[in-house]
Amino acid sequence: MQPNDYIEANRNMWNETADVHAQGYVSKLFERVKDPNFSTFDDVEKHIFAHMGLDGKAVIQLCCNNGRELISVKKAGAGRCVGIDVSDKFIAHGQQLASLGGVDIEFLRSNVYDIPHNLFGQFDLVYITIGALGWLPDLDAFFGLVSRLLKVDGQVFIYEMHPILNMFDADKGLTVEASYFQSKRLFNNSIKAW
Ligand SMILES: C[S@@+](CC[C@H](N)C(=O)[O-])C[C@H]1O[C@@H](n2cnc3c(N)ncnc32)[C@H](O)[C@@H]1O
Repeated sequence: MQPNDYIEANRNMWNETADVHAQGYVSKLFERVKDPNFSTFDDVEKHIFAHMGLDGKAVIQLCCNNGRELISVKKAGAGRCVGIDVSDKFIAHGQQLASLGGVDIEFLRSNVYDIPHNLFGQFDLVYITIGALGWLPDLDAFFGLVSRLLKVDGQVFIYEMHPILNMFDADKGLTVEASYFQSKRLFNNSIKAW
């Protein structure tokens, strides 16, 4: 498979996933996002964002999905916020959520490898969250782009988990509950409890 065929197949898969998510937790998000204190941050993110400070900062989230995390960043005081995702449908959800949440966020449907060059050098923070890196076929090229997006002294925050965590049910502790090679997610360990 050529790299562009892979990206296109992945885009189609994420568009189908967006339809599934729309029947589930996203419908609740449409209400919850209206809360001025809406936040997806867990304790780790709260700690890190408090340490680095978000006030007025220009933030870009790569592979932002429906933008709920970026909306949280904006509501926590960030300045310009830009979210990039390859999925048309997740970007549409993001635009809807931002509008309902009363926040101004620029959403762009794009393959991260085709990110417009006019965004280079514009950001204090590049934000990359759980479940993004594993889809990207060329991490060297990706992190080259990450560094070009940053202003001098800009920062990168990567919040990732290893898929081994999906073997455990967070509610039950350290007992192995599922095979590492399961084809279907059994637990929602990577979907934070907000
Ligand atoms: C599991 S989500 C992770 C984002 C976020 N942590 C979340 O939980 O919603 C992965 C996202 O990466 C996006 N994605 C995958 N490959 C991409 C690419 N080449 N360019 C831009 N976005 C991509 C998908 O559309 C999907 O929304």
